[in-house]
Amino acid sequence: MKSFRLTEEEMDYLAERYPTPFMVVSLEKVEENYHYLRRRLPQVKVFYAIKANSEPAVLQRLAALGSNFDVASEGEIRLMQSLGVDGSRMIYANPVKPAASIRMAAGAGVDKFTFDDESEIPKLAANAPGAQVLVRVQVENDAAVVNLNEKFGVVPELALPLLHKACRAGLMPAGICFHVGSQSLTAEAYGRALQLCRRLFDQARAEGMALKYLDIGGGLPVPERGQAEPDLDGMTASIRQSLEELFPEVEIWSEPGRYMCGTAVNLVSTVIGTKLRGGQPWYVLDDGLYGSYNGIVFDHWSYKLEFFRRGELIPSVFVGPSCDSIDVVARDFPAPRLQVGDKVLSPEVGSYCSSAATSFNGFQPAKTVVYEEQLAAGAREAVS
Ligand SMILES: Cc1ncc(COP(=O)(O)O)c(C=O)c1O
Repeated sequence: MKSFRLTEEEMDYLAERYPTPFMVVSLEKVEENYHYLRRRLPQVKVFYAIKANSEPAVLQRLAALGSNFDVASEGEIRLMQSLGVDGSRMIYANPVKPAASIRMAAGAGVDKFTFDDESEIPKLAANAPGAQVLVRVQVENDAAVVNLNEKFGVVPELALPLLHKACRAGLMPAGICFHVGSQSLTAEAYGRALQLCRRLFDQARAEGMALKYLDIGGGLPVPERGQAEPDLDGMTASIRQSLEELFPEVEIWSEPGRYMCGTAVNLVSTVIGTKLRGGQPWYVLDDGLYGSYNGIVFDHWSYKLEFFRRGELIPSVFVGPSCDSIDVVARDFPAPRLQVGDKVLSPEVGSYCSSAATSFNGFQPAKTVVYEEQLAAGAREAVS
């Protein structure tokens, strides 16, 4: 699927109106991504994981489309409430939660919670009595860039004993969830996880516990520098087939994060300084590792950089504006000779970029503008 990408003219138009660095989100692209997922996995109810990108315009658009939401904290619940989304459309999918946050969530109408340890049960039972709980099981996946199974998920043998304990504590054992790891490059791990969950569902029924929901988490990938283009058609076809074969009678949920906005946002930054160090060109950008490019540290990510100047491509170093030398965005990146004032565009930065940016050294995180609001039909024609 094609990612959203500004033209040079559109980028220049926006750069005349907004100081760089700024992000540009296409809500039409977010909507296209949502519809694609609904079409490819029609039996799956979407709970968008708002940690990936919590820009209010994105959340409002997804809420209007009928999406539900995966929230991880009180702050995320409040944000969704402030946008008019009821707690009944949220799943509190952080397996370990402070007692006070469970109480706050229950008060907000949230009645779906995940957990992966016995220590969570008394907290849930005391603060959200009768709530529906899903146990998160640990699954294996070498093909995921971000491992989410070292810290999360109970070993499969303990999943049902945990649900029975939750039941005895007055909670409603409602289902099983897993997360294959973020940026999963193949569907094989989903297939294995679904087989495992089928065995657990059958065993639960044999033990007198009828589970209603299966939550297949997030994990769908977006394009990344240096990686093959993800095969979303192939992955979703395989997941759909496994779900049809293994879970025809079960309500399926998913918590896509990265996939939903990853391809819908561009970052525009400016070269604010140039240096020649050891004979190599170095470029200082007005955004860096502490800002939008934080995924290098937090998300194992390699960013694409695009330029609008022509010329021979020379392996160059790109760094951020802070006074820290860890602030390196890319080394030996092929680039034409750039000058102060040149713009650099990074596509596919819609997930886990703005959400984790800091204001270290006083540099404020890039603000997000909405493409369709800025470049309404008339303006689009003018710059194209
Ligand atoms: C519980 C949970 N659900 C969903 C997601 C979103 O995953 P992804 O961005 O891989 O789709 C995450 C990511 O950390 C998560 O922890």
